[in-house]
This record gives sequence, structure tokens and C-alpha cells, in this order.
Amino acid sequence: MSKSFYVTTPIYYVNDVPHIGHAYTTIAADVIARFKRLQGNNVFFLTGTDEHGQKIETTAEANGMTPIELADKVVTRFQDLSGLLNITNNDFIRTTEERHKISVAEIFRRVEEAGDIYLSEYEGWYDVRNEAFITETQLEEIMTIPEDKRPIIEKVKEESYFFRLSKYQEPLLEHYKKHPEFVQPGYRLNEVARFVEGGLRDLSISRTTFTWGIPVPGNSDHVIYVWFDALTNYITGVGFPDNEEMFKENWPADVHLVGKDILRFHAVYWPAFLMSAGIELPKTVFAHGWWTVEGEKMSKSIGNVVDPYQVVEEFGADVFRYFLLREIPFGQDGDFSKSAIIARVNGELANGLGNLVSRTLGMIEKYFDGKVPVAGDLNSDDANVRDKAFTMVDIFEREMDEIAFHKALVALWDYIADVNKYVDESAPWTLAKEENQERLGTVLWTIVQAIGVVTILIYPFMPESAEKIWERLGSQDPINSKILSDTKDWGIIQSGQTVEKGQSLFPRFEDS
Ligand code: ME8
Ligand code: MG
Repeated sequence: MSKSFYVTTPIYYVNDVPHIGHAYTTIAADVIARFKRLQGNNVFFLTGTDEHGQKIETTAEANGMTPIELADKVVTRFQDLSGLLNITNNDFIRTTEERHKISVAEIFRRVEEAGDIYLSEYEGWYDVRNEAFITETQLEEIMTIPEDKRPIIEKVKEESYFFRLSKYQEPLLEHYKKHPEFVQPGYRLNEVARFVEGGLRDLSISRTTFTWGIPVPGNSDHVIYVWFDALTNYITGVGFPDNEEMFKENWPADVHLVGKDILRFHAVYWPAFLMSAGIELPKTVFAHGWWTVEGEKMSKSIGNVVDPYQVVEEFGADVFRYFLLREIPFGQDGDFSKSAIIARVNGELANGLGNLVSRTLGMIEKYFDGKVPVAGDLNSDDANVRDKAFTMVDIFEREMDEIAFHKALVALWDYIADVNKYVDESAPWTLAKEENQERLGTVLWTIVQAIGVVTILIYPFMPESAEKIWERLGSQDPINSKILSDTKDWGIIQSGQTVEKGQSLFPRFEDS
């Protein structure tokens, strides 16, 4: 029986159109989903949009629209990302859907039943852009930011339902201790634990000064706080509360991927809500780093927000996907620039992978009429190419299971370099001149097997290119029918298959 694996992205606010930051998290989740399928898991992959709250209401008003009109308009831009970037999400959730309203009302009711909700008054600060209640200490920190870069903080005084977050301080700390994998990377766990150790105050979970949200069950003067609403999407998406079978199959989530900006909501509030409602906690919250653009923070006022549609138009989806996951260790911050993309395309995709595939298939066309030759006995160099592949696959798998994309890719590209070296050293062109057909056939057969393994492994990262290479190798069954253990079948590309060199896979770019 195949194991289930559940991966999520944050649900994005519809006050603005998607940029490369959103694309990043969604691509990372897609690579995980595709890799987990390759391992033979039954994957459920959820993404979607966060459509309630004060920020959406205000943005809609400023644009002369109702909130739902704004959401309906912007949501298509997020949904279209799947096609643009080859994202294989199983579902797309919008928090304005009926199924989600039912789910939020139900978890609210359970938390209330647990005695963790009481009515009081919130008096303090609110950050509308981040939909976050701000403590005095946080306010002091915010005030040190230069005025033009500071988030807008409002003074709020209103009746509010509170969640007894303080009650969960110890249980949360205990959970972090017992499950250090709950927050990744590890250094983020320390940050979260330090924050919780500093003391948790009860959390306001309803608002009364605007109406765009899910009403509090039994008191429709209040709408539920947008983060309580939004976080619940992760259980709504797998059938909570009514589809017990689906819920049992997929929950708890294996990994919630989030940016470091929203880690606290996912690693403190969300597990506390779940504990209160008597629902299991997700296994891991992985917080990745932040992209700047040409050294600067992306912002509308600077006007440097990068549109994923433009990047794909210029470089293609595969290059974009590869670049984002290869450029920086997942978890750390990074800088996005065209010259950085071009350096990777020219150095690693065109020279490394593209060159290996095109010269190998070119030689098979030239020397064997385009048919994968038959191998004779393998000498120690040939066997070495095979054994290194097996070792590399194990490393690749281990790094992918740790969500260390760049390390998995480094292992793979080190192997590609080794194979290119084997090509140079075996010098098939010399063997052809010497008319040493058997040795020539064995060498080209060996290289083609190595390319087969590489192609299966790049598929989660660069699905279009992998499909193209797979077809050019003349394989009959589609690449998405392959599983990871097929890489241990040295001979997966069969003698007699008809290959095709084709056009350049990764054209080089000039860096202006
Ligand atoms: O926070 N670099 O939505 P949001 C890397 N609705 N990642 C970035 C990024 C950047 N410069 N900018 C954005 C919300 N992201 C809530 C989430 S979840 C229950 C509710 C990515 O539209 C990153 O994943 O502000 C970040 O966490 C997310 O977009 C924030 O998206
Ligand atoms: Mg944000």
C-alpha cells in the first residue's frame, strides 16, 4: 500500500497579484510533491487564496469594488500560476468557499467547547498589512524602522473574543522538545521556542469594526480573525469536518511550507488552536527565506516587483524553477537577478546537462544510425559510472527528504560533471576512428543509462525538459510512470531505442 503525503503552501492574499515570492513557495511545494510521487507516495498537494479580512476589505474599497469582486478577479491570477509553472496541486482552496466556512465554524465551536474562548475587549495596536495584533514591545521595534518603510499600525479598541493562548505555552514548548522536526530549519525552532518562552498572552480571535469575514457562530456582530480563518484551510482542504475518510487518509499534514514572515502564525498559533480542538498537529512547518531583487527588498513603491509571467516568458518555466531552488539553500535568503539566472543557465544547464545530452545523442545518430547500441562487457570505468549513479541517487533521496533542494541538485550536477569527464576520457570519437565498434557501443550505452537516471531525477525540478529528454531517448512509456527505484535498473534505456538529438535544450543567454 502506498503511503499518503500531504504538502501545503500558504494561501496567498488576493489584495495583490502574484510575484516571484509566491511562485517560489509554490514551486518548492511542487518539487516536493513530484518527488514524493516518484518515491511512490500517494500525494495530496494543496494551495489557494486567503480572501477575508480587513486588508482585503480596504483594498477592495479603494478600488471601488466589493471584496468578493476583488477576490474573484485576483484569484484567477493565482490559479493560472499552476499552468504557467507546471504546478501539480490536487486542489485550490479559497477561503470564501462554503466548505471552508463550515470548517472554520466547526473548529471555532470545538475550541469554544474546550473552554478556550472568552469575550472581552481588545485595546492595542493592529498591523493591517500583516493582519497582526502588535504588542508594545513589537511596536517599539517597529518604531525604529524608517518612517517610509514602516508598516501602518492602527490603534484598535473593540469588543473581541479571545483564545486562551497562554494556556498552551507549556504544551507548545513540550511539543517542540519532543518533536524537534516540528519547525525547520532547526535554527528557526530555537527562535520560535525563545518567543514562546518569553510568555504568551491570550490572542484576540474576532473583530467587530468591519464585516468581511466568517461570522462567529452565535454572534454575528463579530467576524473571525483572518488568521484563525486562514490557517484552518489546511484541514478544510482534506475534508474537515465531514469527509472523515479523506481527513483520516491525509491529516496530519507532512509539511506546511511557509515563508519566514509567517512562521509564528504556523508554529505557535496554529498548533495551539489544533491542540485546543483535539486535532493532531502537522508534522513539520518549514520556513524558507526571503528573496530580494537586485539587492533590494521587493516593493510596489520601489517598483521592482518581479512578475513570474515575465520571467517565464524570457527564460521558460523550467529554468525559473531550477534557478530558484539551486540558487540558495532552502531556508536562507537570496537575491534574484537576471545575471544570476543567466550564469546558471549557461554554466549548469547549457554546458553541463544540455551538452551531455546533445553530444551523446548526436554520436548515437552518427555512429549507430540513431539506435541505442548494445553493450559488451563493462570495464571498470563503465562500472564506475554505474556505481556512482547508485550512490548519487541515495544522496539525492536523502537530501530531498531533508528538503535540501540545492544539495540534491549539487549531487546530481557533480554526477553530470563526472559523466562528462567519462565521455572525454573514453573519447568515443577516437573509438569510432579506430572502428572499435564494440567498445564504442559499450561507452555510448553507458552514457545513455547515466542520462536516463539523471532525467528521472530532474523531472521533479524541470518537468518539461525531463519529458523532452525522455522522448529524445526514445522511451515508450512516459516519464511520469517511472519511480525512484527504476534508477537502480541499469539498462532502463534499452538497446535499439531510437534517439533524436533535436534542438538545443537550454540555449545560452548573453549577459548584457
Ligand atoms: O501571508 N521571498 O499571504 P501573502 C520569499 N495570507 N517568499 C515570499 C516573498 C519573498 N520576497 N514574498 C512572499 C499571507 N513570499 C497569508 C498566509 S497561510 C494560512 C496565510 C511568499 O500573500 C512566502 O511563502 O502575504 C510568504 O510566506 C507568503 O508568500 C506570504 O504571502
Ligand atoms: Mg505578506
